[in-house]
Amino acid sequence: MALEWKREELRVEKEIGEPILVVEDVMKAFGGVQALNGVSFEVRKGEILSLIGPNGAGKSVVLNCINGLPGYRPDSGRIIFEGRDITKWPPHKRAQVGISRTFQKIELFGGMTVLDNAKLGRHIKMKTGWWDGGIYWLKASKEEAKHRKWIEEKVFETCEIEIYRHRTAGMLPYGVQKRIELARALAMGPTFLLLDEPMAGLNLEEVEDMTRFILDANEEKEWQCTILLVEHDMGVVMDISDRVVVFDWGEKIADGVPEEVQNNPRVIRAYLGEVEETYITRR
Ligand SMILES: Nc1ncnc2c1ncn2[C@@H]1O[C@H](COP(=O)(O)OP(=O)(O)OP(=O)(O)O)[C@@H](O)[C@H]1O
Ligand SMILES: [Mg+2]
Repeated sequence: MALEWKREELRVEKEIGEPILVVEDVMKAFGGVQALNGVSFEVRKGEILSLIGPNGAGKSVVLNCINGLPGYRPDSGRIIFEGRDITKWPPHKRAQVGISRTFQKIELFGGMTVLDNAKLGRHIKMKTGWWDGGIYWLKASKEEAKHRKWIEEKVFETCEIEIYRHRTAGMLPYGVQKRIELARALAMGPTFLLLDEPMAGLNLEEVEDMTRFILDANEEKEWQCTILLVEHDMGVVMDISDRVVVFDWGEKIADGVPEEVQNNPRVIRAYLGEVEETYITRR
């Protein structure tokens, strides 16, 4: 998919720091399926690292291992975040240190409003629950108002969904629901964002919008999130990534800047084996 703008026009000057996340020799099997076969890579502070590969390569599994989704603890290997071994941490503890995510298949509470969905993403930052009552009511309502304002002003503005805030999430078009997913992840105030196919199912205009929101989350002063992006849209990947890691059959087959990866024969072969016409060399 050819986007209208070029990579150079999109990028701002930014500093890439030391590795913030290190995935070290991670193995994960499901029955006879070796989903991850000793993968290692690192994500540096401030960068957008894209993780690509054919269907079933293990991309979502590694995101689930990083996020700590139940059932996805690595069989061996380690995941280090900001110098701490988080391999066995429960998901809420990972969220507390700044790791947030979106899901490949939209995971919103369809019967709740957009605002309530985003507030659920925010609860990790709150001292009182949204549900607190009794003598805590005044304290809780003040805190609720503060967080709601922050969500409406910062998160909804970034994802351009202010106008939908009181609408029922499940009733909104698919493209808007993908933005709400991102909003819920941002509502947590993360430093590290895991995005699993944010462009899937979007039309060209929606892809351009979503690309802008992701760049804002990465570059804008108030966010400055380091991003690990799983994405099949090669136009977007090649345009916005600082580096690209490629998986095939649970193994890492390439790791480098977009231009290097694009011309890597192993990568081309992995894609040619999957589809008749490779889309990695098309641009
Ligand atoms: N909970 C699970 N139970 C059993 N097998 C699983 C589970 N989760 C993932 N797998 C298997 O692990 C392999 C890797 O799956 P994964 O979802 O990571 O692929 P992917 O690279 O994200 O592919 P896609 O691009 O299609 O999303 C697949 O064979 C998949 O069926
Ligand atoms: Mg996947």
